[in-house]
Amino acid sequence: MSGPLEDLRSYIGWLESRGELVVVEEEVSPVLEIPALLRRLMYNRGPAVLFTRIKGHEGWRVAGNLFRSIDTLRAALGVGRLEEVGERLTSMFTRPPPTGFTEKIRALREVGEASRYTPRRVGKAPFTENVVESSRGPLRLLPAFKTWPRDGGRYLTYPLVITRNPLYGTYNVGVYRVMLLDGSRAVIHWQIHKRGAEDYELHGGERIPVAIAIGSDPATMLTGAAPVPAPMDKYLFAGILRGRGVDLYELPNGILVPANAEVVLEGYITRGEEAEEGPFGDHWGYYDKPRERYPVFRVERMYYRSNPIYYGTVVGPPPLEDAVIGKAFERIFLPLVRVLLPEVVDVNLPEYGVFQGMAIVSIRKRYPGHAKKVMMALWGLGQFSLTKIIVVVDHDIDPHDINRVIWAVSANVNPSRDVVVIPGSHTDALDPAQEAPAYGGKLGIDATRKLPEENYGGPWPEGLEEDPATRRWADDAFKRLFAGLGSR
Ligand SMILES: Cc1cc2nc3c(=O)[nH]c(=O)nc-3n(C[C@H](O)[C@H](O)[C@H](O)COP(=O)(O)O)c2cc1C
Repeated sequence: MSGPLEDLRSYIGWLESRGELVVVEEEVSPVLEIPALLRRLMYNRGPAVLFTRIKGHEGWRVAGNLFRSIDTLRAALGVGRLEEVGERLTSMFTRPPPTGFTEKIRALREVGEASRYTPRRVGKAPFTENVVESSRGPLRLLPAFKTWPRDGGRYLTYPLVITRNPLYGTYNVGVYRVMLLDGSRAVIHWQIHKRGAEDYELHGGERIPVAIAIGSDPATMLTGAAPVPAPMDKYLFAGILRGRGVDLYELPNGILVPANAEVVLEGYITRGEEAEEGPFGDHWGYYDKPRERYPVFRVERMYYRSNPIYYGTVVGPPPLEDAVIGKAFERIFLPLVRVLLPEVVDVNLPEYGVFQGMAIVSIRKRYPGHAKKVMMALWGLGQFSLTKIIVVVDHDIDPHDINRVIWAVSANVNPSRDVVVIPGSHTDALDPAQEAPAYGGKLGIDATRKLPEENYGGPWPEGLEEDPATRRWADDAFKRLFAGLGSR
């Protein structure tokens, strides 16, 4: 693959060329049927899919399970390791300053090359081929999903909601579910901690311009779900993720949108106009409770490419497609976490921990209280701060090896000393176990070996290790005597 994938169509073509896409020609409905098939595909780690006959939506196609595996994402972004993307952001902080002439020239060249990540404004976009004005109820054309039987309506489940930060002028692109109210009105479920909600709050006016894009190149689509620290421009981040800047097209309402989008909704929110949202079966595996009020988005017009492709996902009991997306960000943002907290060795956001449920963090521990310092720092760090349970282990425990983590928690934790419970804190807005939306408790478990200061002044017991001579002899003898068994 030379250069980044240009748009959703080239991504789908690329998946097909790799044997990772199935085309379904049988007619299927976006109401319950497509979501049920997508869930089965995702639970079985199946291929991506393109449905070509959509009940009630002639002329539309629906793509699904596009982010099917970490390997697919790595290949689509053209990187060997996802961490490389984060390192593009942090490399400046993690190597010695250039001193010699050639190093300085190289550093200058790198700064110049970084400009290739910046977005470019273009005067044409294929989505302007078809325009439907608000009076014709454009939202009814979209094959929006109803994902679970008691969902309150039909939803855009992977929309890129685009707003502008009024203080910095930078753009946010956020994946926030959008519930359709009728042909021209929808409710945007941007939770209180998210950048879209903040852009809206900070905007001084009565009428806040907003755009929603559906379907783009994989890097731009992923950017919508990426926890990029505000106020960094998400289009700039998309360029870093893609390895080349994104093309942007300016809508009449002044909002820049990805020129390669399949569908664009141009509209606005009137300050204070809200509607009840939900119920919706969410990524925690429950219908949300209680129902909350969110801003109403009024569509002025909808644009779409000819022969349009709609993309949607399904959330529910893990692990679904969002688990792969979460894993990708765990890797991509690790270098950034390590710039801020250099003691962090690795992080695991387990698939079944639904992003904000649980994080396991290994650290190079140096001083008493170090594990708790890391917990406190992470609970103050961007969207990491929404994590409910943080388990900290020593650097020699692989946080992805759940059994080793269970051993560390079982052997190293004294519950009366090593467990931190913080009541009344900020939490994920949908966490079903908390006392109120976005408000509840946190749990920290320090499963590191304790220093004397942390261990009532006493030493930590010595770890078990064979003496080198016995180890060498036994490794050899074991292979000889018990051939075919593992090497542990
Ligand atoms: C499939 C999917 C659905 C999501 N739905 C919502 C949602 O309805 N509301 C929300 O606030 N975040 C939702 N998120 C999480 C945001 O996309 C995520 O927090 C992202 O980083 C947006 O962050 P930002 O506000 O910092 O741009 C969803 C993520 C995924 C992958």
